[in-house]
Amino acid sequence: MNIGLIGSGGREHAICQKIYESKLSKKIFCFPGNAGTAQIGKNIPVDILDFKKILKYIKAYKIDLVIVGPEEPLVKGLADYLRKYKIKVFGPSKFASKLEGSKAFMKKLCKTNNIPTAQFKICTNKTHISKFLKKSEMPIVVKADGLAAGKGVAICKTKKQVFKISNEIFNGKFKSSKKIVLEEFLKGEEASYFIIVDKKNFKFFGTAQDHKKVGENDTGPNTGGMGAYSPAKIIDKTIERKIINKIIKPTLNALKKKKKYYSGFLYVGLMIKKGEPFLIEYNIRMGDPECQVILPRLKSDFLKIIVNAVNNNLNQSVINWKKEKSMTIVLCSKGYPGNYKKYRLIKNIQKLKKTKNQIIFHAGTKNLNGNIFSNGGRVLNFTSLGLNFSNIRDQIIKQIKILNWKDGFFRSDIGWRVIKK
Ligand code: AMP
Ligand code: GLY
Repeated sequence: MNIGLIGSGGREHAICQKIYESKLSKKIFCFPGNAGTAQIGKNIPVDILDFKKILKYIKAYKIDLVIVGPEEPLVKGLADYLRKYKIKVFGPSKFASKLEGSKAFMKKLCKTNNIPTAQFKICTNKTHISKFLKKSEMPIVVKADGLAAGKGVAICKTKKQVFKISNEIFNGKFKSSKKIVLEEFLKGEEASYFIIVDKKNFKFFGTAQDHKKVGENDTGPNTGGMGAYSPAKIIDKTIERKIINKIIKPTLNALKKKKKYYSGFLYVGLMIKKGEPFLIEYNIRMGDPECQVILPRLKSDFLKIIVNAVNNNLNQSVINWKKEKSMTIVLCSKGYPGNYKKYRLIKNIQKLKKTKNQIIFHAGTKNLNGNIFSNGGRVLNFTSLGLNFSNIRDQIIKQIKILNWKDGFFRSDIGWRVIKK
């Protein structure tokens, strides 16, 4: 079958690779893709929010199934739009996408269904904020209600800061948000749990831990993710049972009760505190770079699983995983997540050894006349598999040093929680 894949990051290159390896796939069309996806699929330069144009290409190229990587087109209704034209889509509806698209929606759903999450208040003015601050201790987490490209969350140590940041959001800092959510600060260890969902069932789709801060020892501003590893050691069988029973099942059932169904990947962002999982956030997609560590561990045919999910036959899928662990380190443009230069040549990329257990996923790259250039903040993802996280990390760093890209930087401490010095 012909597949359409929406997105252009490392996550989409990892998805593209798995589709390419599937017996079911014929051609892959990437909207718009990157230099990595161009090697195994056809890149179509198109704005991923231009639904009409995407539909035109889907028809022209006889695409049988569309897989949506990033959240924004889903939150804006791409899956509903394409389904109206009888196109098969893997990804949640606009309504279900509110789990990520509106923090207020997600928190209200948690409250109504007794799902463990941080105490919170949805605020639309200063009085609401004052009320919450009176009964809460610092720090307080301020969140813009809508999508904010990972920049909508601030952990505030003082009340003055809470008012300042809330005001910026009320005044339109993020177009998508007129409301804010104030939250109590949860102390614990963060981990992510993934599932694949259809109308009737859901199945485990891996665990991972991400490193959001730009600097070594988790310092500096937040990024989209500087590296990840899988599995997440902290999620043992007991915690997993709690995640499923206290968080996932009540959420999916709450949607079903409204006659709304979730379908697609669901990323459950958690804080584990004294053996208890608390929901920090839902993402309605795979994580980036979590996808780049989870998919290489998948043994089963990826596309077969997706096709079963789209046809609401997920119960027919047996999902098997390799015993190897995996890690990815993100090579970024110098300056990221602030200003950085684009279109820097990445010279030595052909020198890098690629094996089954040593993979390079492209993220912000572009192929111009046969040369690979950077065109984003997160540029390349170096993924390795193995039996020992410490060896895996050493292997990755060796590769990055061979590349020796003068315009890039990376974190050398990815996996510090599972690698003892
Ligand atoms: P979010 O976009 O909701 O995932 O928030 C981004 C990051 O902020 C999370 O990955 C956490 O590290 C942190 N965070 C968000 N909410 C809380 C909270 N209530 N307590 C502690 N940390 C939080
Ligand atoms: N790595 C975090 C995310 O995908 O949102």
